[in-house]
Amino acid sequence: MRNIAFIVGSLSRQSVNRHIAEHILKNAPTDVQAEEIQIHDLPLYTQDLDEQVVPSYERVRNQLKRADAVLIVSPEHNRSIPAALKNILDIATRPFGQNLWANKKIAVVTASPGTYGGINAGVHLRQILQAVGADTLVAPEIYLSKASLNIDERTGAFLDKFAASFFNWVNKD
Ligand SMILES: Cc1cc2nc3c(=O)[nH]c(=O)nc-3n(C[C@H](O)[C@H](O)[C@H](O)COP(=O)(O)O)c2cc1C
Repeated sequence: MRNIAFIVGSLSRQSVNRHIAEHILKNAPTDVQAEEIQIHDLPLYTQDLDEQVVPSYERVRNQLKRADAVLIVSPEHNRSIPAALKNILDIATRPFGQNLWANKKIAVVTASPGTYGGINAGVHLRQILQAVGADTLVAPEIYLSKASLNIDERTGAFLDKFAASFFNWVNKD
């Protein structure tokens, strides 16, 4: 059994990105179980918190430890990644020396109702993941433009193709 953790970069109740994450995960093979790493309740990271037990930090760090791979599906906020997503990226690199992203398999999808599909957020995210030593899925890349809660047939097929590559990659070694 493989464990996939997924992170939705949006805190919005009617999130297009959540809808896309759910579509991708519907394709999961039966030997894969997926669990969400919730990020809405994580206090903003500061090193001062390294000296305390923060239950929500413990929760997400444990989820990451047991994840064989992570799928991040995120919107773009002002041409970069949302603050809540940056927060968990930071939380899981600390305390110093306990970087949970190192060598972790991570796949990135961005989506936007706009024309550019959140590509700046996607590229920024990949840059951060490289800095923290993650094993990021290089291709296929998805920066989904004109994204909406109605996934049409063409978009659905496109996401299904991505899902097949992702789960295939997760199941390798
Ligand atoms: C603070 C903020 C900044 C945004 N900046 C961008 C942006 O830079 N590029 C973009 O394509 N969309 C931008 N948007 C629009 C989002 O793509 C849109 O709200 C989308 O629905 C967010 O995804 P979600 O539905 O999963 O939350 C921004 C939205 C917010 C709230």
